[in-house]
Amino acid sequence: DAYDVAVVGATGAVGETMIEILEQRDFPVRNLYPLASSRSAGKTIKFKGKSVTVTDLAEFDFSKAQIGLFSAGGSISAEYAPKAGAAGCVVIDNTSHFRRDEDIPLVVPEVNIEALAGYTKRNIIANPNCSTIQMLVALKPIYDAVGIERINVATYQAVSGTGKEAIEELAGQTARLLNGQEAECEVYPKQIAFNALPHIDTFQDNGYTREEMKMVWETQKIFGDASIKVNPTCVRIPVFYGHSEAVHIETAEKLSAEQARELMRNAPGVTLMDERADGGYPTAVTEATGKDPVFVGRIREDISHPRGLDMWIVADNVRKGAALNSVQIAECLIGTYLD
Ligand code: A2P
Repeated sequence: DAYDVAVVGATGAVGETMIEILEQRDFPVRNLYPLASSRSAGKTIKFKGKSVTVTDLAEFDFSKAQIGLFSAGGSISAEYAPKAGAAGCVVIDNTSHFRRDEDIPLVVPEVNIEALAGYTKRNIIANPNCSTIQMLVALKPIYDAVGIERINVATYQAVSGTGKEAIEELAGQTARLLNGQEAECEVYPKQIAFNALPHIDTFQDNGYTREEMKMVWETQKIFGDASIKVNPTCVRIPVFYGHSEAVHIETAEKLSAEQARELMRNAPGVTLMDERADGGYPTAVTEATGKDPVFVGRIREDISHPRGLDMWIVADNVRKGAALNSVQIAECLIGTYLD
């Protein structure tokens, strides 16, 4: 069997990678419909060696597709995902718009694939936030083995999570500054080159940013555990691809570093890289960029807490954090539910 697949936001950082991953994983695509704004209509993209023309989203008839991969922003999904769903196209939405809706499953295949069954209510499945996905792929086996009461996490997030304009802003600022010129800030409120910004998405009344609150809400929803405590600080850093996270957990029962390492060795979607030596840990640029796994290192027992464990978790935010996770959801969908 093969499927007609629409990619909404096909010219964006995530959409382009979605199309690349559909090809790399040999997803059974009959017709590919790359969709974007009217600005991009008529451009062509490459898929399996052929040129395919980009269509204006506003003019597309979603009854022509069985699967829609959406990554063009929350307001676009708000408008078009329900229309697509009603036309019989199952939407896998990469934006945050539907993630908290009770009747929409929020799925990481390695963590809660059982939740996928609920998609039929609205024909929409939500893809979680990039930082949440990589953290939960690594924490799931620990959660199942000994329970997790609390997560303290600081993220070091790449600019590609913001989109193509942010990738250009980092490159442009870096070049200008190295040439003795002034940095121009358009996408971010402060200089991102050679800097670290403790600010991702909008500020909330409680002083956390929305990105930080996504990690709280989504962890609770995906683990199906409203009692798990999550305390994040999300930081944007001048890296193009790959999010890093310093994660400190408090488990319900004591877990040794060696037991945690053993769990990581057997965890689906995880690659353990944990030599206690120079360079014996994963990094965004050297290990994660362009790769599928979530890389874990620096596992150690927290000297300040009897049931504390520290770890370093890295993944390609555009792949596992977005495009790959969406395509994996689509693979589960066709494997189990669609004819
Ligand atoms: P376009 O290139 O035509 O603007 P990124 O996250 O990298 O910034 O990419 C955003 C993606 O969402 C792009 O593919 C962009 O298409 C698409 N997009 C933005 N606004 C719209 C819109 N109004 N209708 C359809 N697609 C849109």
